[in-house]
Amino acid sequence: MSKEKSFKLKNADETLDIGFRFSKIIDENLLIFLKGNLGAGKTTFVRGLIHGLGFQGRVKSPSYSLFEQYLLKFTVNHFDLYRFKSSDEWIDAGFNEFINGHDVNLIEWPEMAENVLPKADIILNFEHTENDSRELILIPLSDKGNECLSRLS
Ligand SMILES: Nc1ncnc2c1ncn2[C@@H]1O[C@H](COP(=O)(O)OP(=O)(O)OP(=O)(O)O)[C@@H](O)[C@H]1O
Ligand SMILES: [Mg+2]
Repeated sequence: MSKEKSFKLKNADETLDIGFRFSKIIDENLLIFLKGNLGAGKTTFVRGLIHGLGFQGRVKSPSYSLFEQYLLKFTVNHFDLYRFKSSDEWIDAGFNEFINGHDVNLIEWPEMAENVLPKADIILNFEHTENDSRELILIPLSDKGNECLSRLS
């Protein structure tokens, strides 16, 4: 079933733009992991996505707060687990409650809690490429994720 897609992102505006386009093809109840090295473009993508859903304020990186929430046409929860020392922190913070069958959950650095997280619907892999550009590979892992990605162009 699964159909990966990939995009070359020449600059930060292109990362924002693919996030914006992605916002137009998603529905509620999705779990998305954003992977890639420090500075690979994960938060930039989320900024485009949240703005694409109509939010006009500043989209802060949750690298210190761990978590930011946006009440839009559905609730979007944006996590950054980079500072986790153990996956227990996911459980102890009660974050599992956000995976509730309604919200869209976007998780940067899911590796820090992967053994306690459910399987993602879509993994986004950001990679640095030559000339300070990026490549984004989107991998669907569920029927729902696959359906969404088939609408992305
Ligand atoms: N396609 C791109 N080409 C060049 N620079 C980009 C691109 N996309 C994003 N950037 C820039 O890369 C920098 C880091 O981006 P961002 O904060 O989104 O990374 P991140 O993956 O969230 O990092 P972290 O793991 O630290 O949270 C920013 O200055 C952003 O503008
Ligand atoms: Mg980030």
